[in-house]
Amino acid sequence: MDAPVPELEARARACADALLEAEEVLLASHIDADGLTSAAVAATALRRAEIPFETVFEKQLDADSVAGIAARGYDTVLFTDFGSGQLDVIADHEAAGEFRPVIADHHQPADADTRLHLNPLLEGIDGASELSGAGAAYLLARALAARGPEARLSNRDLAALAVVGAVGDMQASGGELHGANAAVVAEGVEAGVLSETRDLSVYGKQTRPLPKLLEYASDVRIPGITGDERGVISFLDDLEVDIRADSGWKRWVDLTDDEKRAVASALVRHAVSRGVPAFKIDRLVGTTYVLEEEAVGTALRDASEFSTLLNATARYERADVGLAVCLGGRGEALERARELLRTHRRNLSEGVEWVEEHGVTTEGHLQWFDAGEEIRETIVGIIAGMSMSADGVSRDVPVVAFARKDDAETKVSGRGTGALVGRGLDLSVVMREAARAAGGDGGGHDIAAGATIPAGNEAEFIERADEVVGEQLG
Ligand code: C5P
Ligand code: C5P
Ligand code: ZN
Repeated sequence: MDAPVPELEARARACADALLEAEEVLLASHIDADGLTSAAVAATALRRAEIPFETVFEKQLDADSVAGIAARGYDTVLFTDFGSGQLDVIADHEAAGEFRPVIADHHQPADADTRLHLNPLLEGIDGASELSGAGAAYLLARALAARGPEARLSNRDLAALAVVGAVGDMQASGGELHGANAAVVAEGVEAGVLSETRDLSVYGKQTRPLPKLLEYASDVRIPGITGDERGVISFLDDLEVDIRADSGWKRWVDLTDDEKRAVASALVRHAVSRGVPAFKIDRLVGTTYVLEEEAVGTALRDASEFSTLLNATARYERADVGLAVCLGGRGEALERARELLRTHRRNLSEGVEWVEEHGVTTEGHLQWFDAGEEIRETIVGIIAGMSMSADGVSRDVPVVAFARKDDAETKVSGRGTGALVGRGLDLSVVMREAARAAGGDGGGHDIAAGATIPAGNEAEFIERADEVVGEQLG
């Protein structure tokens, strides 16, 4: 069978071979949607290849967590959705003979190399927009399937989870997945586990009652709709579409294709009439990725809703719940995940409100806010990203957000836009340099990156970050 992403095939094969030789593997992954799906893809592939393994999750990989991983005594450690940014630290443990690292990641590599390293950036593929961690894990799973004892299994069914990871990492934020991600989608479609359709690109098409779907859609703000319950009802009532169900409101998935088209075009007309600019109106429609094997009307059927459900688990110290759902758990695990999702959604909207209320401070080349203990450090990055479409926050400069980690440390998240990256912004460099200047460390992607610094050094961080952004944007 053809390799889905030929550029990465040699690396995928070398990693697969090393895993097949291992006695027992420790699988270590990151606590977000992409990290969970990466772990689920890798875990399924290891199980099918009959390789014994155990799974652990880390909030972040640093010298301490890598040392903790080494202390567990596994001969081989598979890192997914992180590892590249900490290659220097990992290489030291490898050199000391503590474990053999295998890395499937998409973050900007630190300066060091290890042989078993599967990362799109090493082959000229963009790790922020063309392949996610779960996508890298998927390529590894495909290579394992081709070489392991159960070679008859192609592992292509795992493409669905890989797409959830990519969508969870906002790699479809331009409207659709492309590059290597598109190759993964194509395999999933062929395997019958995925479908892609042009549709309204609003969160909640599977599960939200129609009025809430439109009222809560905040990525593109439409006067008379966004946050306006009565406006939405009157908008919907004017349409010749029956939007009421016996039990209340229909959801988007309950509409026929004709009805969906009617609502979508009325929404676009309404937005135009209210003066929403054309480039924002374009964002109302995009590609939706549907997991064909999941039940209609559940969060698991929509890649975007599924990824949010996963963030609601792992970012609240319940990666076990998210992983169980990814691996097929539907009873108790799914119920627990749904409860966690309610809290997560509330935290996100309260977080964005907090930013709108308190505003941002603008420097020469960036804007920032310090949420202190008001926003949980594990979700401050998501809120920083969402805040870029909030009132009072500019899209012309990147945003930097601080949140208290504990008495000693502050979490930093940086978010930019595609346009800024086009002009030279690379937040992985900004975060790393500014963090180092402030006594910490960081990394990530050009468009989104993070760091941890000693508490109290925020001003130093901002000063250096502002300089680096200034240099990058010339
Ligand atoms: O660690 P990881 O790669 O999984 O996290 C990527 C982060 O970058 C996510 O929080 C995602 O929301 C963010 N991102 C973004 N916009 C993009 C790509 C990624 O905000 N276009
Ligand atoms: O934590 P946050 O969502 O802001 O992270 C954005 C991106 O930066 C993620 O891909 C994350 O893995 C990465 N990151 C990193 N090193 C850190 C913090 C975040 O590589 N210390
Ligand atoms: Zn990722």
